[in-house]
Amino acid sequence: MTQAPLVTGGDARIPAIGLGTWQLAGEEGKRAVRDALEIGYRHIDTAAMYGNEAEVGRAIAGSGLKRDEIFLTTKVWHTDLAPAALLDSARRSLDKLKLDHVDLLLIHWPTTTGVALADSIGALNEARAQGLARHIGVSNFPSAMLAEATSLSAAPLAANQCEYHPRLDQTTLLAACRARGVAFTSYSPLGRGDLVADPTVAAMAASRGRSPSQIILRWHVQQGVVAIPRSRSRAHIAANFDVFDFELGADEMARLSALARADGRSVNPGWAPVWDKPAR
Ligand SMILES: NC(=O)c1ccc[n+]([C@@H]2O[C@H](COP(=O)([O-])OP(=O)(O)OC[C@H]3O[C@@H](n4cnc5c(N)ncnc54)[C@H](OP(=O)(O)O)[C@@H]3O)[C@@H](O)[C@H]2O)c1
Repeated sequence: MTQAPLVTGGDARIPAIGLGTWQLAGEEGKRAVRDALEIGYRHIDTAAMYGNEAEVGRAIAGSGLKRDEIFLTTKVWHTDLAPAALLDSARRSLDKLKLDHVDLLLIHWPTTTGVALADSIGALNEARAQGLARHIGVSNFPSAMLAEATSLSAAPLAANQCEYHPRLDQTTLLAACRARGVAFTSYSPLGRGDLVADPTVAAMAASRGRSPSQIILRWHVQQGVVAIPRSRSRAHIAANFDVFDFELGADEMARLSALARADGRSVNPGWAPVWDKPAR
């Protein structure tokens, strides 16, 4: 069975392709996670906010895999970042998952309630010290905030999970992650599905005999980032994992990166931080 290469972030080794599970709830969510684990995925991404941790936990329990074969991420919502609330959120997630630890616990978004970063980073470290999470990290942290978070954290931060795909330049944030040994995890790696219809991607896919999603995910993998595409379709879940046996040339990588545009960001809620400026 194919195995995803591992990406190092902090002291974690993270499978380069994981299954995103936003909006995959109920039986559909459980089936998607089960399909992914059967196909060879060993990395699953959930969050307290997704409301599907119980189903994710049931799919993992039913997979027959050993717990340490799976890299499972969950996240704490931005209103729960005071230390006691963060630890409660982590414990509630574990109750729903019916597991005694996750592999990665992330702050889902920077605080919206004025909690000091030092306090929430301290609580993440406490969650790790208590064994609730093997590794800790952040999500939606621009580079200046990431620098502050890494300097405040006793344990290394394993990942910064942020939007990334060919339509969104993330040169600055990628460099910040690399400089600090933090893995960059790409969310919405397919641009929420829109990029599979992009003419440049489609033409490259046709010339390669690959699907558009495979071209885009290969672009992520070759940059040493982790990507977590979501799909409810078993065929898509399988295709998205079949990206480890071909290589894009430097010209193809550059043509995909050139699709970046100023309005390329698709996840930008009212509580978002001030993002790094795109270089393109
Ligand atoms: N930390 C954060 O704040 C944050 C924010 C957003 C997302 N995330 C995480 O990142 C994950 C992925 O991001 P996302 O869900 O926003 O978007 P995405 O993975 O970029 O795109 C998902 C869409 O692509 C389609 N798709 C998937 N594989 C395909 C294929 N092979 N061919 C054609 N279409 C395909 C899916 O439709 P089908 O179901 O029909 O395949 C779905 O509509 C989320 O599920 C979540 O785990 C995190």
